[in-house]
Amino acid sequence: MKRIAVITSGGDSAGMNPTLKSIVEEAKRNGISVTGFLKGYRGIVENNAIEMYFQTVSGIVQRGGTVLKSSRFPEFKELPVQQKAVGNLHNSHIDGLIILGGDGSMRGAMALSKLGIPVVGIPASIDNDLYGTNLSLGVDTSLNMITHCIDIIKDTASSHNRAFVIETMGRASGYLALVGAMATGSEAVLIPEVEYDIESIARRLKLEHDNGRAYSIIVVSEGTGATSDMSDALKTIAKLDTRITVLGHLQRGGSPSVFDRILGFRLGSRAVQTLMDGVSGVMIGLMGSNIAMTPFADVLSHKKIIGERYMKFAKRLSH
Ligand code: ADP
Ligand code: F6P
Repeated sequence: MKRIAVITSGGDSAGMNPTLKSIVEEAKRNGISVTGFLKGYRGIVENNAIEMYFQTVSGIVQRGGTVLKSSRFPEFKELPVQQKAVGNLHNSHIDGLIILGGDGSMRGAMALSKLGIPVVGIPASIDNDLYGTNLSLGVDTSLNMITHCIDIIKDTASSHNRAFVIETMGRASGYLALVGAMATGSEAVLIPEVEYDIESIARRLKLEHDNGRAYSIIVVSEGTGATSDMSDALKTIAKLDTRITVLGHLQRGGSPSVFDRILGFRLGSRAVQTLMDGVSGVMIGLMGSNIAMTPFADVLSHKKIIGERYMKFAKRLSH
């Protein structure tokens, strides 16, 4: 193996930069050159690449986002576009490709793998919706940010005896909302995975406020689409002075947490070793305390399930 390539694809997530550093350092230690294609799959198709040296990845561990840039490139779902990428990879003498990204990016990874490119995937997405890893890169940093923001909002919420509906990202996954609600001791949580009853939550909180509760925090996952309905119910049923805060892309930025840095170092070096071992067509992820490999076909045919204890908590706070 003489040359590998790497891309960061889809929504960026904290931990991508430490992973890139680890990939380049592990490759260099083994005499392998590294090409970085810019802006995910778009960079491969448009042949937009940089050579990655030690200097390229020095001083980046503490930076969120990705120095390789990322993009949404829906055209990559089309076979002729994928074939163009394969041609470009061959022309650039790429022996193996490492792809950092979420669920969509792993679909692209499987497509390239089927077309004969040795590919290893690394789960990196704040949504934490990928089967084959307990946590994706960036989830921990995102949760720290969500927790920090909710902690801050509590100051103003308690000063005005208000209710706040906090909307978190996550697409169809409620993981960020659920763990964010757990970590902040929030009063209610709405996630797509669990049936919820907005009116019952509003009635419960009315009673609690009538009995002296100072403020309420209700965390709503964007995937439910229920943010404004929840707010309306708190105003009309609970008669609470209510505000909505959409955390938005604040959840995607910020310096990677220690956890995301260390996970990135482990996944980056293991991805290079996996390619060197002649293994590909797999995503590597964190299972328990170990790094495990899961074939792309399995990753993409299974839905990631929220653990039983977390589900119990969600059910309790959904009514
Ligand atoms: P994420 O990887 O964070 O889930 P996206 O869903 O936007 O983000 O996917 C990232 C990129 O992966 C897309 O812009 C596209 O280039 C590629 N991709 C997504 N779905 C597929 C698919 N079904 N087949 C091939 N490539 C895909
Ligand atoms: O997939 C990561 C994510 O942050 C989702 O949680 C969110 O719905 C989406 O990306 C936002 O995408 P964009 O940055 O393209 O607006």
